Amino acid sequence: MNTTTRLIVSGALFLLTLLSGVWLSHSGKPYSTLIFTIHKLIALGTVIFIGISAFNLYKALGAQAFVELSVIVVTGLLFLALFVTGALLSIFDAPPGIVLKVHQVVPLLSLATSILSLYLLAKGIKAV
Ligand code: HEM
Repeated sequence: MNTTTRLIVSGALFLLTLLSGVWLSHSGKPYSTLIFTIHKLIALGTVIFIGISAFNLYKALGAQAFVELSVIVVTGLLFLALFVTGALLSIFDAPPGIVLKVHQVVPLLSLATSILSLYLLAKGIKAV
C-alpha cells in the first residue's frame, strides 16, 4: 500500500471511529452492546492500522527521525488514554465527569497528532 493510500485509509477509519463514538453517546446508557462493540472494534482497527503505518514509515526513515518519534509517542499515549477512559465509561454506571470530558477532547488531540506524525513521516520519506 502506498503512502497516500495509507493516509486516506487512516483518515477514513478515524472518521468512522469518531462517528461511531458520537452514535454510541447519543444512544445513551445503558450502552447498546452492538454499537459499543462496533465503536470498540473500529477504534482498535484504527489504532492498529495507524500504528503499523507509522511503524513502517518510521522504519524506512531510519534512526534520524527524532521529532517524528516524539510525536508518535505522544499519539500512542493519547490513544492509551482513550482506551482507558473508554473502558471506565463502559464499566462504571456514573464515572467522574472528567472521564467523559477526556474521552471527548482527546479524540481531537489524537487526530491532530496522528495527522502530524504521518505527515512528518511521509515528508521525511520523500526527502530521503
Ligand atoms: C481511537 C480510539 C477512540 C476514539 C477516537 C473514540 C472517540 C469517541 C468519541 C468522539 C465519542 C463521542 C463522545 C461524545 O460525543 O460525547 C466516544 C464515545 C464513547 N466511547 Fe470512544 N473512542 C475511542 C476508543 C474507545 C474505546 C476503546 C472504548 C471502550 C473500551 C470507547 C468507549 C466509548 C464509550 C463508552 C463512549 C460513550 C460515552 C458517552 O456516554 O457519551 N471508546 N468515543
